[in-house]
Amino acid sequence: MNNNYFDVIVIGGGALGLATGYELGKRNAKTLVLERFSFINQQGSSAGVSRQFRIPYPDEYMVRMVLDSVPYWDELQTHTDATLLDKVGTLWFGDPSVKTTEGNIEAAEKAMNKVGVKYTPLTAQQIEEQYHFKNLPKDYTGLFQADGASINLLATLETLLQRNQASPSVTLREYQSVLQITQKNDEFWITTHDETFVAKKIVVVPGPYINNVLTLLDFKVDVTYWEMASAYFKKTKPDIQYPTWFVFQEPTAEGLHDNLFYGFPSVVWDNPDYIRVAPDFVMKPLSNPDQRTHVPNPQELAYTIQWVQNHMTGLEPVPHFTSTCLIALSTIENKEMLLGFAPSSIPNHENIVVCATGWAGKFIPLLGRILSDLALDGKTPYDLQPFQISRTRFKSIL
Ligand code: BEZ
Repeated sequence: MNNNYFDVIVIGGGALGLATGYELGKRNAKTLVLERFSFINQQGSSAGVSRQFRIPYPDEYMVRMVLDSVPYWDELQTHTDATLLDKVGTLWFGDPSVKTTEGNIEAAEKAMNKVGVKYTPLTAQQIEEQYHFKNLPKDYTGLFQADGASINLLATLETLLQRNQASPSVTLREYQSVLQITQKNDEFWITTHDETFVAKKIVVVPGPYINNVLTLLDFKVDVTYWEMASAYFKKTKPDIQYPTWFVFQEPTAEGLHDNLFYGFPSVVWDNPDYIRVAPDFVMKPLSNPDQRTHVPNPQELAYTIQWVQNHMTGLEPVPHFTSTCLIALSTIENKEMLLGFAPSSIPNHENIVVCATGWAGKFIPLLGRILSDLALDGKTPYDLQPFQISRTRFKSIL
């Protein structure tokens, strides 16, 4: 059993699990990272190859958190020749007052002003002239923030995986679904199809499979699951380049769906002649991750195509291919991310570290540090109060 005894077991080997394993390895903690599929797979939240790194957020604490992540990205960058953050900037535009799941432009401007982040305010006409969009309503406004980037997610995962593999204190095990977690003498006994592993601390980061694991600890989080579609449009003008962007709009007159879209520049690491555009809404949320089809909802796709045809230039009118990714979202208003210890009603809760829900791509290396701090030290210098997992946010299933 000694070989199966660890200081920390990380459940989930996606971006957050690998980032946590990397940080635990730096501190020589004997660490096991368990992944139910293969490392670097297309089954969870880290499916696809790019994400947005953006500073505009409606809440000051989120703006600060993105800024806090920068030194950790810089450090990770020293381990790879691939550019992890391709700094093409963030363009936010649309109806300045519309309130959405991602916040709104006015609130983000306020938050950035408070923190002292520089950005350029834009009119609809400037957005059309400078960024290749067309037919925008005249009252749209926008902002360009130059530090925004397209995250090379694949290279990020590969770099983290390599750092874990290089660490003498980290063991990586794939194809290990966790079937049972029992607590004996303040230890967690974790059983998979193959083996039982033991640790004094666990970090639970299985992405959309969060409740599959939390249920084994007798609680769960209130979540909804989004299978998010993406469409890839071929460039007709090879030199045209978009920043990463997000458009905020009131729901359409039919009133049946949200009206938010986002997109990326073409990137050298993934189909360089294509531009990815995606709806930031789903028409049919899933009630569990196993309902994922890997096929975009046709109506979401149709709305996306319509938006591209109406408002973008230099692209073919229909996408050549599509993809999806799966994300668990908290149903608590304004609670994008849940981060901290298990609720106090759960035995040994201070040795159970959880990070669940929300769009965490831009925070990957910082979250690795925070989760490892929580596991090894029981605390972190970062203020986690806004993400706190209190009893009310959890359901006991006993
Ligand atoms: C984000 O940056 O958090 C984000 C970007 C696009 C869609 C959803 C979230």
